Amino acid sequence: METLQVHELLARLLLVLATMILFKRVLPSPSKRPTTTTGPCRAARRCARPPGSPTACGTFWRAARRACLSELLGAPRVRGFRGVREAEAAALVAAVADESSDRDGGSPVNLSDRLVATTNRIVRRVAFGDDGDSIRTRAILEETQRLLGAFFVADYMPWLGWLDAVRGLRRRLDRNFRELDAFYEKVIDEHIDKGTKSKEEGDLVDVLLRLHNDPAHQSTFGSRSQIKGILTDMFIAGTDTSSATVEWTMTELVRNPDVLAKAQQEVRSVVANKHMVHESDLPRLHYLKLVIRESLRLHPPAPLLLPRETTEPCTVRGCEVPAGTRVLVNAKAIGVDPDAWGADAARFVPERHRGDGADLNDHKPWHADSYALVPFGVGRRSCPGVHFATAVVELLLANLLLCFDWRAPHGHGEVDVEEENALTVHRKNPLVLVAKRRCVTSGRS
Ligand code: HEM
Repeated sequence: METLQVHELLARLLLVLATMILFKRVLPSPSKRPTTTTGPCRAARRCARPPGSPTACGTFWRAARRACLSELLGAPRVRGFRGVREAEAAALVAAVADESSDRDGGSPVNLSDRLVATTNRIVRRVAFGDDGDSIRTRAILEETQRLLGAFFVADYMPWLGWLDAVRGLRRRLDRNFRELDAFYEKVIDEHIDKGTKSKEEGDLVDVLLRLHNDPAHQSTFGSRSQIKGILTDMFIAGTDTSSATVEWTMTELVRNPDVLAKAQQEVRSVVANKHMVHESDLPRLHYLKLVIRESLRLHPPAPLLLPRETTEPCTVRGCEVPAGTRVLVNAKAIGVDPDAWGADAARFVPERHRGDGADLNDHKPWHADSYALVPFGVGRRSCPGVHFATAVVELLLANLLLCFDWRAPHGHGEVDVEEENALTVHRKNPLVLVAKRRCVTSGRS
């Protein structure tokens, strides 16, 4: 049912788009990312003044986004980090095998913790070349994530902003900013000391420093603050979303044993007697790709995408929407919109994506014409990390399915789907599953 939800939050109008038809109507209207005084993005913005993060707006945003797509997150660069992803997938398998090896039938493993640690390490290695498991670095970056997901009263009712100070949020923000800034200073200095790398080599800091020294990119990457802002965005946007996607997909697979068996059978027949799935195997895992789409439909990790703000007035269903209205797109509601997905929209049925005619190896937004499936957003504000995310999610899942048999600790199907609301929606309770190592008698790695 098409409904227009406009809420007046004292000072600010908030428009929530909960169906694909509404989203399609509002999307062409000019918009920007809202500039919040505190709250989401403050840590990134304070590391990066004048606006140094691609989530900001205007000319800088356009240039930074173009550079992100071509230099940082484009297909060739993403392919270049394949070794990191494969090594971390192998480390994940080894860690799960270790934790589950107590008993013959396998023992329970806290998969949620393992997945967060794995995606965290992947993004840190790709972004900063940080492959030591520094507990301190992890703690700083995790606190940044928590703060970006926190609700700051000042963002909606500026005159009540003192409440944020009373709640201790401002103090935490300031401390986190100082720690994050010191961490980035150290990382950047170390990279400068190590010297210039060729265009193809290095991590994202190396790429950003090359752009920093290139006169053609001076306005976008000319200051350290801008580099810091971009690194923060990459880390925040890339870590939690990817681990949540794997976590929710494993949740649904265990709840739907037939789907699990089918996905597992596909992976095992495609890689035959190898010990690991490599990225070169991924294009042949068609059913797994359907499973991931279905999981992102029911559990988009960023269910409200990122907020936008209209820059010009527009009319939606006869309703005047003034400039400056904050727009939230409810991707989760769109994903279960019965007009698009039918009466069984709430069920996990990967096969429903089979007939959509889209190339499963194409990273353009799926169902882009109908806007019925938008976990990565649509249009010029959509996620620039979709190539990278797809590679991580597919590789981790394929290896978990190849190497282990999975079940809920108390028998098949008994896994809850309670959500924890934050910037990225994870499970409320950690996903604890019994993993039984699969024996491969002979084979290649
Ligand atoms: C499954 C994993 C991921 C999902 C579901 C996801 C989803 C999203 C969504 C919904 C948005 C906002 C789109 C909008 O408002 O229309 C976004 C923005 C963004 N994502 Fe992702 N993302 C994922 C992984 C990644 C990764 C791995 C990276 C980078 C390493 C990344 C980088 C970004 C950046 C920089 C933005 C801000 C773009 C802008 O404002 O122009 N994302 N992502």
